[in-house]
Amino acid sequence: MSNLNKDTAELTIDGKVFTLPVVEGSMGERALDISKLLQETGYITLDTGYKNTGSCVSTITYLDGNKGILRYRGYDIEDLAANCSFVEVAYLLLHGRLPNEIELESFKGLIERFALIHEDMIHFFDHFPSHTSPMSILSVMVNSLCHYYPEMSDDPLDDFEVTSTRLISKIRTIAAFSYKKSMGHPLVYPRSDLSYCGNFLNMMFDKPVKPYVVRPEVVAALNKLLILHADHEQNCSTSTVRLVGSAGVNLYAAISTGINALWGPLHGGANEAVIEMLETIYADDCNFEKYINKAKDKNDPFRLSGFGHRVYRTYDPRGKIIKKACDEILNVLEISDPLLDLAHTLEEIVLRDEYFIERHLFPNVDFYSGIIYRALGIPTNMFTVMFALGRLPGWIAQWKEMREDPSTRIGRPRQVYAGETARKFVPLDERS
Ligand code: CMC
Repeated sequence: MSNLNKDTAELTIDGKVFTLPVVEGSMGERALDISKLLQETGYITLDTGYKNTGSCVSTITYLDGNKGILRYRGYDIEDLAANCSFVEVAYLLLHGRLPNEIELESFKGLIERFALIHEDMIHFFDHFPSHTSPMSILSVMVNSLCHYYPEMSDDPLDDFEVTSTRLISKIRTIAAFSYKKSMGHPLVYPRSDLSYCGNFLNMMFDKPVKPYVVRPEVVAALNKLLILHADHEQNCSTSTVRLVGSAGVNLYAAISTGINALWGPLHGGANEAVIEMLETIYADDCNFEKYINKAKDKNDPFRLSGFGHRVYRTYDPRGKIIKKACDEILNVLEISDPLLDLAHTLEEIVLRDEYFIERHLFPNVDFYSGIIYRALGIPTNMFTVMFALGRLPGWIAQWKEMREDPSTRIGRPRQVYAGETARKFVPLDERS
């Protein structure tokens, strides 16, 4: 590679020079456009895990992994988390700008209007085996929404406001109902006088014998967590939503696959894995050394959940805010959680350890979020569902951007084939 300048780069293969266009983003990021490489050179690029592959040009989220900067539509995550409601941020992601008061009221009104799910869907919950993961239930229920609201499945871009608010509203109800059903408790229906987060908490925890009191501090903590999870550019689940969406499926089907991708312990499932890991270390007499050594051992699949990130080479900016919020909410609720002290100690040890320093492994968004969820009374198996509620506006915004972009083609990566070369077919009765 030589002569990289602002507009083009040159690639030399077998002495022949090919010119590649350079695409420059609004923050100065540069990419080589290799879309014509195959037809011009006969070569494809190979990048397993897409470590260095841009899959789209996007205007939604900016992330600088070296400086620890995260912005939605140009706004610093710190400002949004400190000043906005989750619904406001959802609007921002979907529409590209913050709403004014009238727009926000109308957006909230739609979310409130669509909060119920079709009563027939409630029977679904009765037929999952007990112990079904709420992530599995969420994915199935979201996928099936297109059959209950078929008017939206033809071209959801025609009525995007309705489609998106319906989904944002109903996913919350589905999540809370799945919890109530798993507990064998009567369902609590949404209330129009409560905020998005207040309503969710009430649907989760209100009981006929013990009415739930929606505390503003608890609502604020949940609100912050959802905002911090609302988008993160082309992560695994978002790329899944875009890829599946590029085949032309309806929005619900695309989001349902995003939920499945998020479920994985290397992605959103890490928030559950962190609590399980902290509990294990706690039960093992806080033997930090043992687990840190396991994490460093290349023959042991164990990793420290909640540490490391594909893009961040510094402290995850979301993690920083969540760590502070975690201390604050536990203080307000007068909860003393031994796992919080343990997490602080583990972090201190890890940040001093050469292995983690060399590899730039810092706490990520999932390290402290579970401790907040525990303090709010949310059970561990619902943590990744909480991540999904937060990530939903990002998934929808990314899906919409993909659908509206005239350059979108069906996602279809290539491969380097390394299997058998041509073999002569042998009939079954002649095989040894
Ligand atoms: N514990 C121990 N070693 C680690 C860890 C960890 N948590 N994370 C990365 N490493 C090591 C890894 O073994 C490798 O070492 P070496 O260079 O000697 O082979 C090096 O650091 C680079 O790791 P990688 O696996 O090549 O990095 P990646 O970008 O492919 O993976 C990751 C990123 C997030 C999957 C990974 O750091 C990890 O597994 N972390 C634990 C799971 C977790 O917390 N996931 C949540 C991520 S943030 C939220 C989200 O995306 O949902």
